[in-house]
Amino acid sequence: MLHRILPALICVVSERSVFHHPRVLSSLTVCLPCSACFHQRHRHLSNETKMTSHGPAKRLAGQKKSVWTEFVKLSSETKAINLGQGFPDFAAPDHVRKALIDVATSSNPLLFQYTRGFGHPRMVNAIAALYGKLMGREIDSMEEVMVTVGAYQSLFSIFMSLISPGDEVILIEPFFDCYEPMVLMAEGTPRFIALKPKTDNPESAEDFELDPEELSGLFNEKTKAIVVNTPNNPLGKVYKRSELEMIANLCKKHDTLCISDEVYEFMIYPGHEHTATLPDMWERTLTVCSAGKIFSVTGFKLGWTIGPQYLIDHLKTVGQNCAYTSPTPLQEAVAQSLELEMSRLGQPDCYLTSLAKELEVKRDKLANLLRGIGLTPIIPQGSYFMLANVSHLDLDLSDSGDGPKDYKIVRWITTKLGVATIPCSAFYCEEHKSFGEKYIRFCFIKEDSTLDKAAEKLMKWKAGV
Ligand SMILES: Cc1ncc(COP(=O)(O)O)c(C=O)c1O
Repeated sequence: MLHRILPALICVVSERSVFHHPRVLSSLTVCLPCSACFHQRHRHLSNETKMTSHGPAKRLAGQKKSVWTEFVKLSSETKAINLGQGFPDFAAPDHVRKALIDVATSSNPLLFQYTRGFGHPRMVNAIAALYGKLMGREIDSMEEVMVTVGAYQSLFSIFMSLISPGDEVILIEPFFDCYEPMVLMAEGTPRFIALKPKTDNPESAEDFELDPEELSGLFNEKTKAIVVNTPNNPLGKVYKRSELEMIANLCKKHDTLCISDEVYEFMIYPGHEHTATLPDMWERTLTVCSAGKIFSVTGFKLGWTIGPQYLIDHLKTVGQNCAYTSPTPLQEAVAQSLELEMSRLGQPDCYLTSLAKELEVKRDKLANLLRGIGLTPIIPQGSYFMLANVSHLDLDLSDSGDGPKDYKIVRWITTKLGVATIPCSAFYCEEHKSFGEKYIRFCFIKEDSTLDKAAEKLMKWKAGV
């Protein structure tokens, strides 16, 4: 009870207190926990704050707010059923939670202190052992693995450590939206190529293909890297071996690096190849992975990059001057969980593989729902996202803001129907937005009850109730 009354009390008292003196306010960096008070104080603060002439650093030129800023906020403000942002709304596996409890109650005080900068020893050892098995090669845990704050920081470290001004980086659309701004921040030049559907009415992620000639035309002496995201977010495409071979051959021919973002590596229905396992690709591939994805704990924000020592060394230089290390207790818990998973590989209780089986049922449930309301889903081969074609919807979008049509449709569906999704054109460059505008992205790593609630709302709309 006290924990509920206390924040409100503090706010009531502070309304008339020293906290509201303008000079004290402008020196406050932390706000008290009542939201009404926070907003009032925030307004107060911004009235007080004078701008100086300091603009952003040049490297931020052209950077915009990401799609998540608007749509995560809209989803929470409208209290919509959230099929937008990619996170599970169910519990993490028991053994991961138990590992965290064991760490929290451990008598080893060092588990709460800084650990090795490039990755907690137990964690990098577990990663090297697991991926050694998966990739069929020996991986040096100290030299060929780098732990980061989520796969996001792995990507950032890769771009910052390897891309120089003027270097070109090939991005395949639709792409996870942070690639483009990260390349730009490194002062590189993104070059785009879209996966094209081979039919007018694609129904599977497999129907989207790379045009080998178009791709080969993008490679030149400035091409430093290509980013391959398999399984892909938002499309759910899992690249076939022949497609990876085509990319690998171009990388080798033009001496280009391959950044292989494989965070959804275990969410496959079925069949995923690690790019680094293709002949002669280990030495030019950086594989990006995420504990958040594989253990359904996105809040852990722990990721890693695996690759040859001469490239990982550059990432270490960025890492040691950036976050320096990642949280020790979380790394210890993930290490213990990876060790357990490794002992369960190939068995039914292995979470890495059993999650995909559960997700396949959810995928089919969502696909049936979308067909039931007259949309055409693009069935993903991997990941936990599904695109649906909304181009034929005839909605009154006059009060749904501006921007591409899919942005307006997502705003309309979120506010009018109470189901949050993500516009697909956010995963395309400015010139190619029209390719993505036809689709919106649904996330299906959700409790069945959440999917049922969304179904109820969408079916009511379909029935005109
Ligand atoms: C393709 C892709 N790469 C990287 C990330 C970042 O993963 P993390 O949460 O581990 O930072 C995401 C998260 O959604 C993603 O979809």
